[in-house]
Amino acid sequence: MMKRPAHLTPENATHFQHESVAAVYDRRLPYPDEVFDVLLGLVTDQPRCALDLGAGTGDLARPLAEQLAWVDAVDMSPAMIARGQAFPGGDRPNLRWLEGRAEDMELAPPYALITAGESLHWMDWDILLPRLKPLLTEHGYLAMVYRRERPAPWQMDLDALIAEFSTVKNYEKYNLVEELERRHLFRAVDRHELAAVTNQQSIDDYIDSFHSRSSLSREVMPSVDAYTFDEQLGTLVQPWSENGMLTLQTEAVVSWGIPLEYPATGGSAP
Ligand SMILES: C[S@@+](CC[C@H](N)C(=O)[O-])C[C@H]1O[C@@H](n2cnc3c(N)ncnc32)[C@H](O)[C@@H]1O
Repeated sequence: MMKRPAHLTPENATHFQHESVAAVYDRRLPYPDEVFDVLLGLVTDQPRCALDLGAGTGDLARPLAEQLAWVDAVDMSPAMIARGQAFPGGDRPNLRWLEGRAEDMELAPPYALITAGESLHWMDWDILLPRLKPLLTEHGYLAMVYRRERPAPWQMDLDALIAEFSTVKNYEKYNLVEELERRHLFRAVDRHELAAVTNQQSIDDYIDSFHSRSSLSREVMPSVDAYTFDEQLGTLVQPWSENGMLTLQTEAVVSWGIPLEYPATGGSAP
């Protein structure tokens, strides 16, 4: 079996089960609206049902459920699901929250679209991907969505601060689509890089947003580190703020394609 990037461990994925992570997850800036135009454009089959893998608080699943007949939202974090259920649209009758691992959750296909927002990198690709194709309708896709802030004027110092305080010291850069394709688990069809959207955020919320990351969970960081990180980040961004607010540019990428089937056991791809 090919080696995964070292930091993508099941243990690090469990950090999303921390109450403190779930509590500040909504400080991540929302996906740009255009993400949903792209995702909905990928739904061409009936029934218009979607499966959202690693749905978290439903940043993808809740808006998708507004437009589709049905959405199954799978996540292994009870804390994230509980928050998501309480957010707008979280209690829609056509949105079903399923608590457990995507790799072995019992599902109700067919789905015209499978989505994964900032989540698929955490999963066991060799187990999960081969099970996805049979869940899809004939023209169904797996779409992976990522968002991030465009580099800010304070980016270099921010990167240094994160490197100092992150509890993940073995981070390895990777390209998820390439990793999946190398393993013969996925055939990419296309990707859209969406134009950045401008958002305003308070310094406090901006600081909290970093603690929604697995690598900066307040439940794993020594409390003195969490305190120092917050102090130093606040000092860093203060000169760039206006009335306590920062201007941020959120961009997103949607990549989609076909998950491939091959025997999960036996080890080698065709
Ligand atoms: C960064 S959050 C993304 C949440 C949401 N999709 C979004 O776009 O905001 C990653 C989520 O994946 C979930 N997750 C990680 N591994 C998982 C697995 N094997 N099965 C189900 N959920 C998983 C975590 O619990 C977490 O809620």
